[in-house]
Amino acid sequence: PKLEYLLTETRGRVALVTLHRPKALNALCNGLFVELNQVLKDFDNNKDIGSIVITGSERAFAAGADIKEMKDRQFIENYVEDFLGHWTQITKIRKPIIAAVNGFALGGGCELAMMCDIIYAGDKAVFGQPEIKLGTIPGAGGTQRLVKAVGKSKAMEMCLTGSVNLTAQEAEAAGLVSKVYPAEQVLDEAIKTASKIANLSTPVVQMVKDAINQSFEMPLQAGLTFERRLFHSTFASNDQKEGMGAFAEKRKPNFTNN
Ligand code: HXC
Repeated sequence: PKLEYLLTETRGRVALVTLHRPKALNALCNGLFVELNQVLKDFDNNKDIGSIVITGSERAFAAGADIKEMKDRQFIENYVEDFLGHWTQITKIRKPIIAAVNGFALGGGCELAMMCDIIYAGDKAVFGQPEIKLGTIPGAGGTQRLVKAVGKSKAMEMCLTGSVNLTAQEAEAAGLVSKVYPAEQVLDEAIKTASKIANLSTPVVQMVKDAINQSFEMPLQAGLTFERRLFHSTFASNDQKEGMGAFAEKRKPNFTNN
């Protein structure tokens, strides 16, 4: 089916998804998110894909949820329909997702980036949670994931003022972003990293993502036990035999994802 708000392509085992609603700075309207969930699910189920990169334009990764689309909504319909609840489907994607962020990552745009597994930022990127200025609050992790990424004081300052944003450099220093590159390089670098990941054992890669995500949900002992069991289970894979065997034989491993 033809996509209205996204561009998709594959580069080897990497899937690239570009948010493409240029006239609205990639504001995340319902149609865009429905498409995003669908293409991510398709790539997640595609054996030829090992990792995913999400990017926007040079001006905007995404300037937030679509304000014009939501401004007249009412509480009861929001509650009954679980308005924007479907955004969390991204967190169910099991292959790693790298966000390559240039320009504005505001509100839901910042939250979308935070639902990805790794964030690379272009040097002009801006991260912020301006919802309070619209008379509302973040609704997809801005008061939760942001705290875990940058700590309480910065998260409070960003969400309470709506106007204190993080530059790419500040976001890197705070730990929200793992690397900053010149704007025109960030996508290539994201694809390079995604490609490294995609050429490792995909099931084992998925176990790493699963285990790290469990660290946000579980008490330490339960998380460590979960990790140990997954570690044990990798020994049932051909890829563990291949990886360790190749090391012992001083050659490159050839993973077959089983
Ligand atoms: C709808 C948006 C939009 C948005 C930009 N546009 N952001 N439309 N929803 N979030 C549209 C503008 O209306 C305008 O359309 C066009 O994109 C270009 O934007 P400008 O404002 O003209 O650009 P500029 O002057 O460069 O300012 C850029 C900006 C500003 C600072 C990013 O657009 C802005 O403040 N946007 C809103 C940011 C925001 O508040 N995000 C949080 C949304 S709430 P026209 O047709 O006029 O040309 C949210 C809740 C998440 O995200 C909840 C998740 C569950």
